[in-house]
Amino acid sequence: MSPGISDDNRKRLGRINRNFFLHIHANKVHPHSLKTGYTFGLGVILGFLFMVMILTGVVLMMNYTPSVERAYNSVKDIVFVVPGGRYIRNIHRWAAHGMVLVSFLHLIRVFFTGGYLAGRRLNWIIGVCILVVVLFMNFSGYLLPWDQLAFWAVTIGSNIAASFRELTDILGITQVLDIGGFIKKLLIGDETVGQAALSRFFMLHVIFLPVTLMVLTAVHLWRIRKDGGVSRPMEKTGGQGDNTRGEDKFFSWPVVMWAELAILLLTVAVLLVMAFLFDAPLRERANPDFAENPAKSPWYFLGIQELISYSAFAGGVIIPVLFLVFLISIPYMDREDRNMGTWFSGTAGRRLTWQSLGFSMLITLLFVFILVRYGWFRSWFPDIPQVIIMLFNPATLSALFYIIWAVWVRRRTGSSRMSAIALFTCTMTGFIIYTAIGIWFRGPNWEFYWSSSQWPVF
Ligand code: HEM
Repeated sequence: MSPGISDDNRKRLGRINRNFFLHIHANKVHPHSLKTGYTFGLGVILGFLFMVMILTGVVLMMNYTPSVERAYNSVKDIVFVVPGGRYIRNIHRWAAHGMVLVSFLHLIRVFFTGGYLAGRRLNWIIGVCILVVVLFMNFSGYLLPWDQLAFWAVTIGSNIAASFRELTDILGITQVLDIGGFIKKLLIGDETVGQAALSRFFMLHVIFLPVTLMVLTAVHLWRIRKDGGVSRPMEKTGGQGDNTRGEDKFFSWPVVMWAELAILLLTVAVLLVMAFLFDAPLRERANPDFAENPAKSPWYFLGIQELISYSAFAGGVIIPVLFLVFLISIPYMDREDRNMGTWFSGTAGRRLTWQSLGFSMLITLLFVFILVRYGWFRSWFPDIPQVIIMLFNPATLSALFYIIWAVWVRRRTGSSRMSAIALFTCTMTGFIIYTAIGIWFRGPNWEFYWSSSQWPVF
C-alpha cells in the first residue's frame, strides 16, 4: 500500500481487498464509468438477472421432472400447487427474456461507445459468445414446460437448424451428405421433438449452458479490470491496465456499491411487478398431432424464421453466419482507438447513425413491400431454379445493400469507425424490422396480416 495514503482511504481499500465478493471491483474507478447515460448499468443488470435466474431455476428444478409423460404436470403443479411456485416461475421466465433483451441493449451500447477499442477486442468477442449462449439458454428452457407453445416453438427452431438441406437438395446430395439433418439430430436427438430432445434440452439448460455462461462471465469481468476498467475517452485514460492510478479516479467503496445496490433493487422490483401482473404462458399439453397455426419460434428467432420463409439456406445459415462473423470482426475492421468512450464517436457519427437507420428502413421495407404486394421470383417465373431464389431474396438483397452503403461511407469518410457504424446500424435495424414482422405481421400459414387482437405469446 502506498505510504502517503490517509487512514480513511486505507479503510476504503481494505473493504474492497478483504472481501471475496467485492474484490471483483478495482480499488478505484473513473467518474466517467459511473455516468448513468454511459453504460446505463446494463452489464450490471445482466449480472443480476443471471443470478436471479440461477436462484429461481434451482427452486423450479426441485419440482420439475424432465420426462415427456410428467413434465407438463410437474409445471402445472409448480403453478397451482407449490406455494409461491407461480411467481417463482414467472420471475424465472421474465428474467430469461430480460437477459436476451438486455444482452442486445448492452451490445448496442458497447458498440456505439466504441467499448471494443483499445485492447478490448477479446472482451467484445467473449461478449458475442455470451450472447449466443444466452440465446440458447433461453431456447433450451422454452421446451421444458412441454405444452403446445413449447413443443411447436422448438419444432420450428429445430427445423431452422436443418436449413442446410435447401442447399444439399439443390446440389442433389442430401441422400449422401445431409448436413442439415445432422445438425437437427444433434440438437433434438431424433427426427422429431420427443423425449430425446427434452432430455438434451434439460441437460443443456440446467448444467452445460449455465456453467459455460458462468465461466464466460467471470472471464468477461476479469478482462474489464485487466483492460483498465470501463472504456472512456483516450484523454481520460492512464494507459492500459490503469486500474488504480490516476488522480481523477475515486475509491470504489462505497460509491460503486451503492450504485450497484440501487440497480439490484430496481431489477428485482421490475421483475416482481412483472411476475405479479403477467403470468408465464402455459397452454395445453404438447400434442405432436395437432400443429399450432401459426407455429412460431421464440420471439428472438422470429426474424430468422421470417427470413427462412424466403429461403431456408439464406435465412437459416447464410445471414445468421454473416451476422455473427460481422459482429466478431467489428474490432478488426475498426481500430480507430481515438473514438473510444464517446457515444457515436461525436456529431458526425450520430448523424450517420440516423442516416443509416433511415437507409436501412427504406431498403428493408421496400423489399418486404414488393414481396407482400407483388410476390417474389417464384410467383413471377414459376419454373425459376431454386438456387436463384436462395441467392436473391429480400434478406440477401437487404444485406447486400447494407454492405454497399458501408463501403460507400468508408470511401466518403475514409474512416473505418464510420463504416462500422453504418453497417452495424443497418444490420441491427434490419434485424429488428424482420423480427417485428415475424412477431406481429405473420398469421396462420405465415400469411402477412395485421390484427391487434393477435398479440404474441412469450
Ligand atoms: C451475462 C452477460 C453479460 C454480463 C453479465 C456483462 C457484464 C458487463 C459489465 C458489468 C460491464 C461493465 C460496463 C457495463 O456495465 O456496461 C461490461 C462491459 C463490456 N461488455 Fe459485457 N456483459 C455481458 C454480455 C456482453 C455481451 C453480449 C457483449 C457483446 C459483445 C459484451 C461486451 C462487453 C464489452 C466489450 C465490455 C467493455 C465495454 C467498455 O469498456 O465500455 N458483454 N459487461
